[in-house]
Amino acid sequence: MNRLKLLQDLVDQNKYENFLEIGSHKGKTLLPLRCKFKTAVDPAFRISPSFFLKHLYQNPDNLRNRYFMMTSDQFFDQKKSYLKKKGNMHLIFIDGLHTFEASLNDVLNSLYWLDPKGAIVLHDCFPPSEAAATPATSLKEAAGMNIPDWSGTWCGDVWKTIAYLKKRYGEALNINVVNADMGLGIVRLNNNQNKIDKDLDRGLFSKINAMSYVDLQKNPQSLINLCEFHEVPGV
Ligand SMILES: C[S@@+](CC[C@H](N)C(=O)[O-])C[C@H]1O[C@@H](n2cnc3c(N)ncnc32)[C@H](O)[C@@H]1O
Repeated sequence: MNRLKLLQDLVDQNKYENFLEIGSHKGKTLLPLRCKFKTAVDPAFRISPSFFLKHLYQNPDNLRNRYFMMTSDQFFDQKKSYLKKKGNMHLIFIDGLHTFEASLNDVLNSLYWLDPKGAIVLHDCFPPSEAAATPATSLKEAAGMNIPDWSGTWCGDVWKTIAYLKKRYGEALNINVVNADMGLGIVRLNNNQNKIDKDLDRGLFSKINAMSYVDLQKNPQSLINLCEFHEVPGV
């Protein structure tokens, strides 16, 4: 299992048509994914012309893609009329800035535009090492921190977003993290009801922000609902 396969399975099983990706980089997930309407957001796309052309030939859906070169905060703030026109998003893949605060913001903003039967998938929810889980404000900052055992892989503390969502919205949201591809978080609405209070619980945020990778390793099942793909209900 990897992120592309998981996303494609969700599209195929649920006949999803409207996909949004936060953080598309080289287009390695965006372009091969087969879905009718795809929207991509990234302040620094790195899609090469040859990679684009190859995937346009293999997957003509890519002709309809829309690209927004901006941060996710700018996108959700400035592109409301685009989002309204596009209609509910069925599948939103969050793989932008790998901090607790940014990824939580991305989920809360995404929930607003999510179809009641849709799903949010977050990458990097179960980092493979303490080095990969280092909290930092960017990959560049993490890479410059002289972290022992640094391999270049950076998941940051996105896992805290899952821990926060689980504590704050345990009833309203259905949350799992598939133990594959550095942790693939799946967030769906329980009872298809998109009526959750999106105000930040600052006390809970601070409590979870103070947690460490050691806490995550001690009990990933209870903290982030870590499971195998076949254990995810309804997928
Ligand atoms: C790990 S890469 C994404 C990989 C891609 N999703 C894939 O599967 O191939 C992370 C991307 O997030 C982008 N990014 C960083 N900060 C962001 C932000 N605030 N909003 C949206 N994207 C951001 C970076 O420019 C980078 O291209």
